[in-house]
Formats: sequence, C-alpha cells, structure tokens
Amino acid sequence: MSPKLTSPLFPFLVLLTLSSLYFLSSFLSLSPTPKSQQTHAISNSNNKCSLFKGKWVFDPNRATSPFPFYDDTCPFHRNAWNCIRNQRQNLTFINSWRWVPHECELNRIDPVRFLSVVRNRNVGLVGDSLNENLLVSFLCILRSADVGAKKWKKKGAWRGAYFPKFNVTVAYHRSVLLSNYKWQPKQSEAGIEDGSEGIYRVDVDVPADDWAKISGFYDVLVFNTGHWWNYDKFPKEKPLVFYKAGQPIVPPLGMLDGLKVVLGNMVAYIQKEFPESTLKFWRLQSPRHFYGGDWNQNGSCLFNKPLEENELDLWFEPRNNGVNKEARQINRVIDEALQGTDIKLLDLTRLSEFRADAHPAIWLGRKDAVAIWGQDCMHWCLPGVPDTWVDILSQLIHDSFGRTDGL
Ligand SMILES: *[C@@H]1O[C@H](CO)[C@@H](O)[C@H](O)[C@H]1NC(C)=O
Ligand SMILES: *[C@@H]1O[C@H](CO)[C@@H](O)[C@H](O)[C@H]1NC(C)=O
Ligand SMILES: *[C@@H]1O[C@H](CO)[C@@H](O)[C@H](O)[C@H]1NC(C)=O
Repeated sequence: MSPKLTSPLFPFLVLLTLSSLYFLSSFLSLSPTPKSQQTHAISNSNNKCSLFKGKWVFDPNRATSPFPFYDDTCPFHRNAWNCIRNQRQNLTFINSWRWVPHECELNRIDPVRFLSVVRNRNVGLVGDSLNENLLVSFLCILRSADVGAKKWKKKGAWRGAYFPKFNVTVAYHRSVLLSNYKWQPKQSEAGIEDGSEGIYRVDVDVPADDWAKISGFYDVLVFNTGHWWNYDKFPKEKPLVFYKAGQPIVPPLGMLDGLKVVLGNMVAYIQKEFPESTLKFWRLQSPRHFYGGDWNQNGSCLFNKPLEENELDLWFEPRNNGVNKEARQINRVIDEALQGTDIKLLDLTRLSEFRADAHPAIWLGRKDAVAIWGQDCMHWCLPGVPDTWVDILSQLIHDSFGRTDGL
C-alpha cells in the first residue's frame, strides 16, 4: 500500500511520474536531483581521445533541417520534455550549439548507418528518468530511419521501440536505485499497517526485478543511478534503510554510504551475470541548474546561453557547497565502483554542465505546472542536449561493433 505523501515533495513526484501515474502505487518515490563529473578517455577510433572534453560552439546549421531529425510529433515523446509543443522560448537558439571535443571528432549520428551497425541487436537503458530522457531522444532520432518503428513493451521494460527494418529493439528499464526497494509500513502492535509511517527498505544485494533477468537480450546496456540518492526523494523522516542478506545493516548507512554498497553489489552482479560480449556503459550524472534556490525554493533556469567554462566550478564544485553540487559528488563514487570492470564510463556530465539554458524550465505543457511543481531545471528539452548524448553514445557503439563487423 502507498504511504501518505504529505510533504511538499509530493507535487514534484507527480511531475516525474506524470505519464504513468499507475506506477506510483507500486513504486513509492519522491523527487529527482542530479550529480556530476569526471573526465575519462574512452578510445575513439584508433587514438585515445575524449569525446567528453570540449566546448559548445555556436552553429545555426545544427538546428535546421535535416537536423535534429524529429519534431513535436514523434510518438515517443514525454509531454513535459516536448519543448516544441510546449512552446519553450528560444528553442531554435538553444539547439544552435554544437559540442566540439578538443581532441576527437564527434559526428552527428547517421540513423540509417547506426541501425545497420546494430542490425539484429538490442540496446537497453537501465536506470532513472535521466536515462529515459536519453531514450526518448534516441528513439525519436532512430525513427527518422524507420518510420515503421513500433512501441515495444515487455514485462519489466518501461518503454521502448522496435525498428522492424533493422530488427533492432531499443528500450528502457526503469530502476531508480538499481537495487530492489520497497515501502515497508510500520506495523502497529495490533499488527495493523499505518500507511504514513515506515521506511524504504533497500536490499543492497538484490537487483530490481525490472532488469535482473535481461541478460541475454541486450547487446548494449547503459546503466545509471544517482538522481534519487538524496533527501528530497527520501526525506530524513522516511529514510532508506539498507538490508543485506535480508537483515538491516548495522549501524545504519547514510545515503552516500548506501549508494557505495549498492553500487558495489550491482556492479558485481553485472560482471557475473552479463556476458563479456555485452557492451556495457555507465552514464554519469546529469547536472541540475537551479539558480537562486533549489527546485522547491523557486529555483530558476531562465538562461539564454550556455554557461562559460569559468562558471562551472562555482555551480558544481562540491567545495562551493552550491545547490547543484551533488552530480560531481556522486560521479566520484561511481567512478570508484567501476574500477577494474569492463563497464565503460559515459561521462555526459561535463558537457551538460554548460547547458543551463536547455531545460524545460517553465515550459512544461501545463499552465499550473510551475506554481505546483516549480521549474524543471533537471530534465532536458527535446530536441536538445540529449541529442548530443546520442551522438556520443552511438559513436562509441559504432566504434566498438563497427570494427568487429568490419563496417
Ligand atoms: C532478430 O534479432 C534477434 C536478436 O535480437 C535474432 O534472434 C533474430 O533471429 C532476428 N530475426 C531475424 C529475422 O533476423
Ligand atoms: C516563491 O515565490 C512565491 C511567489 O513569488 C512566494 O510566495 C514564495 O514565498 C517563494 N518561495 C520561496 C521558498 O522563496
Ligand atoms: C530569448 O532570447 C532573447 C534574445 O536573445 C532574450 O532576450 C530572452 O531573454 C530569451 N528568453 C529566454 C527565456 O531565455
């Protein structure tokens, strides 16, 4: 049963789960918050260079036909991110910036070529709504190469698409903590559950059903977690309580230590259960851009151009203790957990840190949305920055499969 959600977080929660309210009853949860950054070279073609370090260059061609491949009619949109339909101001301008890595070349995805490379293969994303943001962009872009794309859904899969021309499925499995977790109501002495009191029980050694058994289906997997590891989603009075082997861990772990333990267990599970031939990525945190207060304190992101490089540390460096610091903090924990594994870092944090201008902000598709939920300075407009994430991910996949397939 659902706990009563009486805190001011509730409205934000609803926003997050707007397109799927039924989900609420099974997955109790609160709002989102992002984290950030670190830079890692992943081999790109023959030379080691990083697609993740670079700068945004103004390029009006980026926003005009045939780019960005899709518009507001793409059937895979989520309303609150559909910035064309929601008439987000200056969207063309926002999409007139091109990410230019310092040392490598980043091409725009060629959807036909990409789908040919992954023909008869499947690509899966596992994690929270920031991975879903990436998914929607990916599906809408790929659809331009196969308008027969069909919505795809299987047990455990949140949403996805099948591209019949290429026999390719791209899908998302929602699992915000990766570990299994559930609301555990407090039992009164009479054994009656009181819905408002209890804990969120997290089994650190049990992967959530939503993705535990997908090994074998996907040839590429992109994991993420992090945006839910905070006291917005899970307030102090309704804490996460970490269990191992069915017993509460003592002494109880705080949020960040809990994340470390969960990551350790989930990464070990992935290494054990998923074959070496599966190309595995871990995408790092998506930075938030709340200015002048957090999301529930009238924080705003009405910017009309990307931040300058010298502003980034002020916004995101944990030492500065700003509203948006957690992305980099969590990235450090993730980076550590992935050492010595075959999971590649997909560091989308840095390039996204610049883009304070590219969130849905007040254009959420509902008149009362901002009054109720505040601005959305966390997810991203589509078309928008996630299209660049797709360019990077598809290039890395292409480098990997294209080479083995001699394409
Ligand atoms: C489609 O791809 C799957 C693997 O995802 C494969 O098993 C199947 O044989 C393929 N179908 C065709 C018609 O090639
Ligand atoms: C947010 O703005 C509204 C309207 O201007 C104001 O009433 C409210 O006090 C503000 N809240 C915070 C936390 O600053
Ligand atoms: C849109 O662009 C104009 C011109 O650059 C600017 O004055 C305005 O503030 C921008 N609006 C937003 C919401 O960024």
